[in-house]
Amino acid sequence: MTTAEIREGFLRYFERQGHLRIPSASLVPFEDDPSVLLTIAGMQPLKSYFLGQAQPPAPRMTSSQKCFRTLDIDQVGRTARHLTFFEMLGNFSIGDYFKDDAIRFGFELSTEVLGFDPEQIWITVFEGMDGVPADDEALEKWVEMGIPRDRIQRLGEADNFWKAGPTGPCGPNTELYLDRGPDFGPDGGPVTGTDRFLEYWNLVFMQYDRSADGALATLPAKNIDTGAGLERLAAILQDKQTVFETDGFRPLVAWAEQASGRGYGTDARVDRAMRVLADHGRAMTFLAADGVRPGNEGRDYILRRIIRRAVSEGAYLGLEPTRLTGLVDVVADGYGDAYPELVAQRSEVIDTVGAEAEQFARTLEQGTRLLEEVLDRSRSAGVISGDDAFRLHDTFGFPLDLTRDAAEEHGLQVDEDGFDRLMGDQRDRARAAGRKGAGVDRQAAEGVASGSPVTQFVGYDQLEVVTTITAMQPQDGGEALAKLATSPFYAEGGGQVSDHGWITGNAGSAEVLDVIRLGDDQVLRLRVDRKSTRLNSSHANISYAVFCL
Ligand code: ALA
Repeated sequence: MTTAEIREGFLRYFERQGHLRIPSASLVPFEDDPSVLLTIAGMQPLKSYFLGQAQPPAPRMTSSQKCFRTLDIDQVGRTARHLTFFEMLGNFSIGDYFKDDAIRFGFELSTEVLGFDPEQIWITVFEGMDGVPADDEALEKWVEMGIPRDRIQRLGEADNFWKAGPTGPCGPNTELYLDRGPDFGPDGGPVTGTDRFLEYWNLVFMQYDRSADGALATLPAKNIDTGAGLERLAAILQDKQTVFETDGFRPLVAWAEQASGRGYGTDARVDRAMRVLADHGRAMTFLAADGVRPGNEGRDYILRRIIRRAVSEGAYLGLEPTRLTGLVDVVADGYGDAYPELVAQRSEVIDTVGAEAEQFARTLEQGTRLLEEVLDRSRSAGVISGDDAFRLHDTFGFPLDLTRDAAEEHGLQVDEDGFDRLMGDQRDRARAAGRKGAGVDRQAAEGVASGSPVTQFVGYDQLEVVTTITAMQPQDGGEALAKLATSPFYAEGGGQVSDHGWITGNAGSAEVLDVIRLGDDQVLRLRVDRKSTRLNSSHANISYAVFCL
């Protein structure tokens, strides 16, 4: 089955079961949902229906939703399946059918539409937690569908309780897995966590609304929310080792092959570059078509980062930066039928990508010239000095990871400790140059700091981290004091200016105004986005992307 046939087969099946086919919502979430930067699941645009705040156009709906997840962005290209942009197929019931039908539809579509062998299907169900019982109902329904008990396994909250964010609609889920056979690993089912058992569909029984203090209230109705990653289904059905070999990605990889004159599948580093171009090519086209523009904050920063990484991976293949706009055409041609906005916005998207690529190209060009000199003179020592790596970064804005890649290709090391030291010195100098006189209530900061572990400072070599908020206390004037598990923000010392940046996560975003030093520890002073009322201290263990500008 082609990707388009799988998408259409899924949507048609659910139309036959009385579902209304709804178009994908934008990747930019609705105004009234500040909880995410970008749409991360098919249920997101339907949240107000699950909460009983709005009337759905129909109680049964189905969609193929554009989704974007950034947590594993650095993994893209290095693995078989990590993607930033992906399509999520889903069926939804707002107070209409519940577990029985959802499971029946899941089984029927798997075996009759996708043609999976029922003997290869494994299931996981929720094992229960405080206040939510083990899901024996789902288990018994699967048995009724013919799945033997020894192919149904129980898993806990981390795997089988789904939530879109720290607060809001959530519930236990049951997941469908396909056993790819002994060539892919030992027997033992999904609990073994190996690649042999591939999860391909998640059926969520949306019953609860989690509030900021973690309490679960019952939703007005029992709902169904499901999600199946289209790219993963295509890889399974087309019997491909990676999503990048499926028909949805093949034209993008072919474009990279043609543009660079290199072949896919012969050299691991070339393959990585082509995979990044394929993923980021889709990502930047879909983001820009939904109106996102490169910038320094929030989702704008995500687009900037995606385009810049595509430029540098393209450069590895010898591609001129502005040629990246060719990827936009491949994406618009390949996906324009399912997502007409790609065709309608084609020229704006090309302009957006082209301008950002060109701007970054100047940086790369100067850096590359210097890099060649540096590589030449580092050969005898076998190592690029911290001084050289720092000068590339500081004078030419040439990112350390590119220096590292180039060094690796020439069999050289990089003195990263030396680089870090110089980065630290530079920060100190910059801070010594001036200081904002912000009125900081030290006592309040000490109160916030006490009781949670000392923040780990990683700012010498990381300006972005994904971490958790371990404590938070609202202050007057829309401000708050907060503490992170890991922080890239340098804490102000006497006479210095502290770092500035952003925290963004499922529960909203906040601007980092000040970083207050408390011995070896630190507390952040934040301006909380007006809409981010749900960003609070109960979100320990929820990941936040933290950007230090
Ligand atoms: N909302 C569920 C998910 O994203 C179906 O997995």
